[in-house]
Amino acid sequence: MKITLLKGDGIGPEIADQVVRILDTLNLPFEYETYEIGQNAYDKYGVLIPDEVIESIKKNKICLKAPVTTPVGKGFRSVNVGLRLAFDLYANIRPAKNTDGVKTRYDNVDLVVFRENTEDLYIGEEEVIDDNTVEAIKRITKTASDRIIRSAFEYARANNRHKVTCVHKANILKKSDGLFLSEFNKIKEDYPDIEANDLIVDNTCMQLVMKPEQFDIMVMPNLYGDIVSDLTSGLIGGLGLLPSVNKNDDVAIFEAVHGSAPDIAGKGIANPTALLYSACMMLDHLNYKDEAAKIRNAVSDVLKNTDVRTPDLGGSSSTIEYVDEIIKRL
Ligand code: NAI
Repeated sequence: MKITLLKGDGIGPEIADQVVRILDTLNLPFEYETYEIGQNAYDKYGVLIPDEVIESIKKNKICLKAPVTTPVGKGFRSVNVGLRLAFDLYANIRPAKNTDGVKTRYDNVDLVVFRENTEDLYIGEEEVIDDNTVEAIKRITKTASDRIIRSAFEYARANNRHKVTCVHKANILKKSDGLFLSEFNKIKEDYPDIEANDLIVDNTCMQLVMKPEQFDIMVMPNLYGDIVSDLTSGLIGGLGLLPSVNKNDDVAIFEAVHGSAPDIAGKGIANPTALLYSACMMLDHLNYKDEAAKIRNAVSDVLKNTDVRTPDLGGSSSTIEYVDEIIKRL
């Protein structure tokens, strides 16, 4: 089975190599097609996403991707957004769950954010009106709202989850978020077995910090999903632990939620767990559920029973020392 592998930049290659090392210990029938994207690809080929990357993902339908840098306020549009749009990967699914052995203020977090991934402010349509004014378009459509909301309910049903919460700001954005909310209220009628409620995004942030256990599946437009899911990573021990997938019904790109962490790149101390958990989601998706469970158990075992951990989790180990411990247990 061929998998497209994008190692990214910053801490990307450091963590991608270690995740592949872990997967290799399980004798999975994977062959990797490895490509560069982003600035590295631009420097070599003059494009941010080479055509062969698109072709490879189109053919393999499965991609494991490490983070890629996007310059702030200048330069090219995000490669991440570009890939999501190229394949119309409308669902960005980000599960946040406590890991045994990682001490946080909470021990009861087990929620999944469903973030709409193709529209909202991320369409990047900004216009300079005059010296004093810039406008950005927030686009919400019925089609995109329906498919992300429906996929959240379907996921809840398939995974024995009991509740879906719609997050919005329809009190202010009455038409755009209003549309998202009204689609939610229509679609929930098709899932009477699942509890459904809605919350305004600012209240959601407060509730997440006060009582995260009240949340199960959460569905929301693009920007709120981006922000709220970073918040949920803070509930479980930080960005080094939060995995994700960008998918539609055909193609899936698995990646950590975090970015290329330029502040620690090249130091050998990046936490590879978020990308490793993303690889576990990939294994689940490909029906290697036992292997995914083995990896998750090995991670918990290391974090519960040893002091070996990267600095973001309060330790002093290197990426490689941590991965060595995981591999010992596999
Ligand atoms: P970031 O997620 O790279 O880093 C935020 C903070 O978390 C930093 O202090 C960093 O050291 C820490 N951190 C992140 N991942 C970590 C890990 N695995 N282990 C230990 N510490 C970790 O966010 P930032 O700094 O806002 O973005 C850096 C670049 O990454 C930007 O160019 C941004 O556009 C890009 N980015 C790319 C993403 C992707 O490729 N999917 C997603 C988010 C940002």
